[in-house]
This record gives sequence, C-alpha cells and structure tokens, in this order.
Amino acid sequence: MRCILMNKNMPVVELELDDDTATILKIRKNYELDFLPVGIDVRTGAPNRKELNEWWLGRSIPASRLGLRTALEQLGVQYPEQLLLRCYGLSLSDQYWMNPVDSELKWKNINFFENDFSDDVGNILFGQPAERNIDLMSPCNTSDGWLKKRWKIIDSKRCLVKAGSNPYMQEPLNEAFGTRLHERLGCKNYVLYKAFFEDGVPYSVCENFISTNTELVNAVSINRSIKRSSQFSSYEHFLNACGRLGIPGMKEFLDYILVFDYLMANTDRHFGNFGAVRNVETLEWIGPAPVFDSGTSLWHDKLTRVINASEEIESKPFYPNVSRQMKLVSDFSWIPFEELSHLKDDIREIFVPTEYIDEERIEALMNAVTARVEDLKEMEMRQKKQ
Ligand SMILES: Nc1ncnc2c1ncn2[C@@H]1O[C@H](COP(=O)(O)OP(=O)(O)OP(=O)(O)O)[C@@H](O)[C@H]1O
Ligand SMILES: [Mg+2]
Repeated sequence: MRCILMNKNMPVVELELDDDTATILKIRKNYELDFLPVGIDVRTGAPNRKELNEWWLGRSIPASRLGLRTALEQLGVQYPEQLLLRCYGLSLSDQYWMNPVDSELKWKNINFFENDFSDDVGNILFGQPAERNIDLMSPCNTSDGWLKKRWKIIDSKRCLVKAGSNPYMQEPLNEAFGTRLHERLGCKNYVLYKAFFEDGVPYSVCENFISTNTELVNAVSINRSIKRSSQFSSYEHFLNACGRLGIPGMKEFLDYILVFDYLMANTDRHFGNFGAVRNVETLEWIGPAPVFDSGTSLWHDKLTRVINASEEIESKPFYPNVSRQMKLVSDFSWIPFEELSHLKDDIREIFVPTEYIDEERIEALMNAVTARVEDLKEMEMRQKKQ
C-alpha cells in the first residue's frame, strides 16, 4: 500500500507499506523532510527507514498494555500494529497520519481533535463486550503506555481516562494527589488530573494538552536528535539536544520535575514520560510539555508494611540512584515548604478508604510523604551551605 506520511496538511514522505503488518517497506519520495518526526536521521538525504519504522510501529498500543491480548481478540486482529492503518495512524498527541496515495482524504475531515470518534475500541480496551460491527476509527489505536486507558469525548473535550493496576489501583489517586502537589508547589505547567470512581473502581481523567496546531515530542525523540558523545552524561546530552533544537526553559523544568518526582516517590519518569511541545505549522518550539503521567509513584506496587520513605527507591530518567539524581537539582530555594506542610491533609482528603486501599496504607503514605518533605529540607540546607 502506498501512503504519504502527512504532518497535518503537509506531505512529508511517500512510503510503501506492507498491507498486513503496516511495516514501512520503502521510502519512495521526499516532500518536506523538515516536518518529519523529531529524531529521524536524514543525513543520507532520505529518512532512515529503520528509525522511521521504529517511530511508526511504536505508535501502536505497546505489548505491555494490561489486558491487551483479550482486547485484540475482541477487535479481531492479531497484533496492535494492525490497528494503525484503521485510523490512518492518527493520534491525539500529534498531527501525523498516513494518507493513501490517490485518496481524497483531508486532515480537517478526519482528525480526532475536531471530528467525533468511535467508542468501540475504548470500550473493548476497558473490558466491555464488543459490539457487532466494531468501528476501529479511534485514537485509542495509537495510545502509548502500559496502563489501561482510553480517549473519550466528554463535554466536547478530548479526555484521557486511565485505570490503575492491581492490587491497590492507586495510580488514579496518585495522579490526583500529583495535581494537588503541583498546586502546592506553585507549578504553572502541569496536566490537571481528577480521580473518579465507577462501580467502586478508581480512574483518573485529564484533558488533552495538545491542540490542532501542536504536537508532543517526547524526550526519547529529543535525545535522538543529536549524536550522543561519551563525554556527556545523559542529563547533559538531553539539555544539549534541547539547546540545539531551540527548546526554551528545559533546565528549570528539569529542576522542577526532579523535586516533584522526589516528593511523589515516582519510579517511572522515563524519557517517554516528559518532553516538549512544538507548533506543527511553524515548527517553533513552545517549551516543556506540561507534567503528565505521575501515577507510578507513592509505593503503588509495594506492600503497606514496606512503605519506607528513607529507603532508596529506583529513580529515572538520569540516574537509577535517587540521591545521585537529586544532585542534578541546581536550585532548591524556590520550594514553598510552608505549603508542603499541608500534604498530609491532602492525602487524607484524596485517598479515601476503598476496597483497594485501607486506613493503614493511607497513614503509611502520609508519614512517608512527610518524611520526604523533611529530606528535601535537608537537601536545601546542604545546598545553602555549599
Ligand atoms: N493529556 C494528554 N494530552 C495528550 N497526550 C497525552 C496526554 N496524556 C498522555 N498523553 C500521551 O499518551 C501517552 C500515554 O499516557 P501515559 O503516559 O499517561 O500512560 P501510562 O500508561 O501511565 O504510561 P507509562 O507506560 O509511561 O506508565 C503519553 O506518553 C503521551 O504520549
Ligand atoms: Mg507514560
């Protein structure tokens, strides 16, 4: 199948795709290579096909998604890549799509930002029984991440609904607590998550932070945009790449998420969980993407009795050792510690006892977060003395 990879209304490259697997077999023609996804090598004069395939096939639902196998059975496909072309590769996090050659398709008539989309795929991903004639035109086909999730139009807004994981189903409540923490820290650039319960099960919901003129470019792609030299640490390399691309404000942003993630005991700030926003018409960089996906935190997968604030936990993205990673924070002086003294009450308010989370766990979280605030105070003191 021949398609033109489009970035909104801009033709980028013409490709030959395998009908069954959606793999890019051949790059046939270049159009506007500046509009390619960030991080694809074009030094030979054409996009690197392996990298373009990685990016394109990487748009499909990852193999790690909870409940994927059952959902694929219901959707009548064998693997998630087969869903890509059923929605022209369209997503709600950027404006790329595959336009079959000789089709009359126009972005304005098919994009998910302005046109309604089917609930079928989302329903099936959430374990609801399949309808008779499933409509596969859905942005859920191109959503990333391991947690069960679906895009849904709520009051005309495109919203991402995310579930939690067993046994505590804590992630949605963690996201709501993260939102409160952003407020306490005076952050201006975060995604607002709300938690809600359906049949006793917690979910989080947030609005799309991408619009018809923008795209999310994650830190993985930013990292790939320049060659890594061994003289630079991964932190330096990332900032160098941001500098070269012209993304403003990233150093201050990293200071912020390192502190935020420390307080959240976030173990999953990998390079796919932050990035920058770019205007797809002008290719101008707007700045760091608002903080999203902070749910894999607060000891979500640990037994209550092992919740311990002072125990070293895994950290990402720059160093696996959290103490080492916190040395990257260039400034602690902005942290409003007075505000953070209310976090205990915030936890009490947000983590109501449910069949998944009991009182003992809530107490443990309150104590652990309070201890983390104290650790942070010590870090600030130590920095002041230096
Ligand atoms: N509010 C949003 N607006 C636009 N795109 C979003 C939004 N939230 C998430 N995304 C996109 O969807 C992807 C998956 O969402 P998210 O990272 O929250 O899921 P997850 O399952 O928790 O991921 P992970 O596997 O990293 O834990 C993100 O990497 C991002 O590309
Ligand atoms: Mg994620």
